[in-house]
Amino acid sequence: MEKCGILALFERTFGSSEGVEVFFAPGRVNLIGEHTDYNGGHVLPCALTFGTYIAAKKRTDGTVRCYSDNFPESGVIPFELETMENDPRHGWANYPKGVVKLFRENGLPVDSGFDMVVHGDMPSGAGLSSSASVEMATAIMLSSLFSLGLEDEAGRVGIALLCKDVENRFIGVNSGIMDQFAVALGRAGTALFLDCATLERRYVPLELGEYEIVVMNTNKSRALVESKYNERRSECDRALADLQKSGARIGSLGGLSPEEFEDMADAVADPVCRRRARHAVFENARVLSAVSALESGKIDEFGRLLNESHVSLQFDYETTGRELDCLAELSWQSGECLGARMTGAGFGGSALAIVRSDGVDAFARFVGERYRRYIGYDCSFFRSVAGDGARPI
Ligand code: GLA
Repeated sequence: MEKCGILALFERTFGSSEGVEVFFAPGRVNLIGEHTDYNGGHVLPCALTFGTYIAAKKRTDGTVRCYSDNFPESGVIPFELETMENDPRHGWANYPKGVVKLFRENGLPVDSGFDMVVHGDMPSGAGLSSSASVEMATAIMLSSLFSLGLEDEAGRVGIALLCKDVENRFIGVNSGIMDQFAVALGRAGTALFLDCATLERRYVPLELGEYEIVVMNTNKSRALVESKYNERRSECDRALADLQKSGARIGSLGGLSPEEFEDMADAVADPVCRRRARHAVFENARVLSAVSALESGKIDEFGRLLNESHVSLQFDYETTGRELDCLAELSWQSGECLGARMTGAGFGGSALAIVRSDGVDAFARFVGERYRRYIGYDCSFFRSVAGDGARPI
């Protein structure tokens, strides 16, 4: 969407667009390192070029009014700065509301209400972090509207951590830090290599030669994702507690190499928790190998690691499901693809594939037709390049 499009939406919704500011935050696709962030491991996401646009303007009273043209049936949702509770009837608006609430709780003076309209040009529920995108767009908007000076690197790290808190404490999902970091700090043409235990990070150029990234949305509606996500997290916590009890001096599963884990895996009493931990440990090692592969131009090795990641998520972590497995397996069968895996939380959402650029159409036909035959409805495809993080536009 162009800047004038979102300004026109503001004008239609609230009367005039005079003095209105516009902001954008991308979605993200995680290349590899799934369900490692909250286990103190590494991740390798990139910001996308599509995401969330916000147009906003301060008010003189304490009322906030939000409208999203992705959810027109919800109409304009008003709330007061003084009473900001998570209200299921407010649906999507709970995300900006949570951000405002936590800004204020953290002493960041959002001292008047405002009007905002939102337009997302990415599918929600597709595992591409539309929620982190709305949160970060709101946060960058608040920083600018209320002159909080949080747009530099240090400020972005702070608001990424704050938006993670919104997910954990206001929305009720125990998610890790990956999505908010990718959305806040993404850089065009690169992937963000992040150590989630220390927050150390660097950018890895995404040079895939004659290949490119294709994102495939299962279009499966994701029921119960939050509860299954929280369940995986507590299974990993139980595995970690067993390992620590048996003498492992680690603060998180990310502290173990695959060899160290194999030596002590029997200490994890529950076989399900043992498999969850095995995924977390091996997936973390795969991220390190994937970065080396990318940096030395070994794209086929990078693709192979993506495949291994999917298999581990399918059998050890059990976050894939029929639709994601179908997309991964069809991608592997097509002649155009070097590797494919689910991305994001799983249980539906999206997968990604590394596909030869001149074969993307043939690839989409091959996968799309068979997916429809096996699953009964269409998947969708996006060609994807790595974009920049949240910003005023
Ligand atoms: C969701 C969470 C992230 C991360 C992924 C799985 O996107 O928000 O923190 O845990 O799932 O890798």
